[in-house]
Amino acid sequence: MSQQVQGVIAPGKNEPVRIETIVIPDPGPGEAVVKIQACGVCHTDLHYKQGGINDEFPFLLGHEAAGVVESVGEGVTDVAPGDFVVLNWRAVCGQCRACLRGRPWYCFDTHNAKQKMTLLDGTELSPALGIGAFAEKTLVAAGQCTKVDPEVSPAVAGLLGCGVMAGIGAAINTGQVGRGDSVAVIGCGGVGDAAIAGARLAGAAKIIAVDIDDRKLETAKTMGATHTVNSRSTDPIEAIRSLTDGNGADVVIEAVGRPETYQQAFYARDLAGTVVLVGVPTPEMQLELPLIDVFGRGGSLKSSWYGDCLPSRDFPMLIDLHQQGRIDLGAFVTETIGLGDVEQAFARMHDGDVLRSVVVF
Ligand SMILES: NC(=O)c1ccc[n+]([C@@H]2O[C@H](COP(=O)([O-])OP(=O)(O)OC[C@H]3O[C@@H](n4cnc5c(N)ncnc54)[C@H](O)[C@@H]3O)[C@@H](O)[C@H]2O)c1
Ligand SMILES: [Zn+2]
Ligand SMILES: [Zn+2]
Repeated sequence: MSQQVQGVIAPGKNEPVRIETIVIPDPGPGEAVVKIQACGVCHTDLHYKQGGINDEFPFLLGHEAAGVVESVGEGVTDVAPGDFVVLNWRAVCGQCRACLRGRPWYCFDTHNAKQKMTLLDGTELSPALGIGAFAEKTLVAAGQCTKVDPEVSPAVAGLLGCGVMAGIGAAINTGQVGRGDSVAVIGCGGVGDAAIAGARLAGAAKIIAVDIDDRKLETAKTMGATHTVNSRSTDPIEAIRSLTDGNGADVVIEAVGRPETYQQAFYARDLAGTVVLVGVPTPEMQLELPLIDVFGRGGSLKSSWYGDCLPSRDFPMLIDLHQQGRIDLGAFVTETIGLGDVEQAFARMHDGDVLRSVVVF
């Protein structure tokens, strides 16, 4: 048995996305079908469409989603039909060397559904980040469903499924921002602003937002930035150093994914400070740094996949903090749109008009 729903696919490199009929198999062992209520548009979806992630077209796009479990396959006990869930791309295996050492947020063998969703002609789809949620329903591994409080709006909850979690986690999990730290965030889109909000939550004393777009810097202030730097007109390394007594920030978070912004992060960091790369580079990008500076400046250079989050720990916790008013996840939703508006939402993202457009069903 299977069912047919509407979904947004990226048919080929740089081709416009379009709505197609998607065939969803019934959930097999360990799988779940989720009725999607909301799915945010993340820059990573645009990377997929541009061929920046891999060539496994056609992609079923969308991966920042919340919805209700419709059906589950054999052996699924953690979630049941009717549960309100945020979809995650880190369904931990519990068996790999990272899991066995008690570090499941690094799990090296995360689960996705085993069966494939297809087009009507049988063409297999590659779901973005193993999710594919610009669709009325999607098929995932049951471990990709994290139950959260159904009182929260799906458009808000879904954002935890990727960019907002990646940003908050880059600050609090990977960067280990603590009380009194100085933090700089380069690139203030949805991910960077979430890093700013995360740094504020963690008690950072100084939060410097860097972007090339003044509108983004204005929003960053509402998220918790104490200072802003437009790096189109001002050298961000000099500016961050001068805002930190000439030293550089304790933690610098790169949320663009480019060699030049990584280099800025590297040199805008205090001695023994931390750089966190959360922006996603494309495969051809190269970085050149004097090795003596890598050595001489000490500290740590880290990458943050998904904010080193553990969905079962972090999603319900952040929803709680949101409901207590200690972090405003709703502020990330710039607009809600329909399934047919994804291409336009990419253009608006590219032009810097939005933090998050969220498709609602
Ligand atoms: N590591 C992860 O787990 C993870 C998860 C989600 C997204 N991402 C990545 O994070 C990055 C940001 O995603 P987003 O959704 O916030 O994108 P976005 O397009 O909303 O934001 C990017 C921001 O960077 C700014 N920018 C562009 N070039 C810049 C430059 N040279 N200097 C300073 N600022 C610059 C833009 O003005 C914009 O505000 C992307 O690379 C995305 O793929 C990573
Ligand atoms: Zn594992
Ligand atoms: Zn994403």
